[in-house]
Amino acid sequence: MSKTGIFYGSSGGNTGDVARRIASKLNVDSADVRDVASATTDDLTQYDVLLFGSSTWGLGDLQYDWEDFIKTVTAADLSGKKVALFGCGDSSSYPDTFCNALGTIYKAVKDRATVIGFVDTAGYSFDDSEAVIDGRFAGLALDEDNESNLTEERINRWTEQLAKELV
Ligand SMILES: Cc1cc2nc3c(=O)[nH]c(=O)nc-3n(C[C@H](O)[C@H](O)[C@H](O)COP(=O)(O)O)c2cc1C
Repeated sequence: MSKTGIFYGSSGGNTGDVARRIASKLNVDSADVRDVASATTDDLTQYDVLLFGSSTWGLGDLQYDWEDFIKTVTAADLSGKKVALFGCGDSSSYPDTFCNALGTIYKAVKDRATVIGFVDTAGYSFDDSEAVIDGRFAGLALDEDNESNLTEERINRWTEQLAKELV
């Protein structure tokens, strides 16, 4: 059976909350939900399936702790692993860089692991995002600042999609 680890970076708590909600839907143990602020290469490599979550800060930047952790991810052997991305952004205040962090992580892993869990952009309001790859988000984009009412449904749909893609 494949083992799933969820790694998140969160400055205000939103992406951490979402990580725990996703874990609960996928039956991932709380010990396998890790804050990237203290995660190591060994933590990463023990899993077959990796979920990476980052909020977006600055103007399209990775969450603070991800700035270091992306180097750990880039140096790790991810061959044979499946990776799915999620993160929180603010499509109203930052419509040109909405959830950019997902795009940055995608670019770091796309040639070294199989990325799953792409999401249609329909139903989102934004102008531009580096997370959009070939017309779809490279993972689950969430907006807890403006659309928290949609989060539960978006998480449900995405975790069901992942379960199918992981068969
Ligand atoms: C100073 C600042 C800059 C931000 N920049 C972006 C951005 O470029 N793109 C985006 O989608 N969201 C941006 N956000 C919104 C955050 O990503 C959003 O509030 C998110 O829910 C925070 O998640 P966290 O609590 O897990 O860190 C920014 C928020 C702040 C306060």
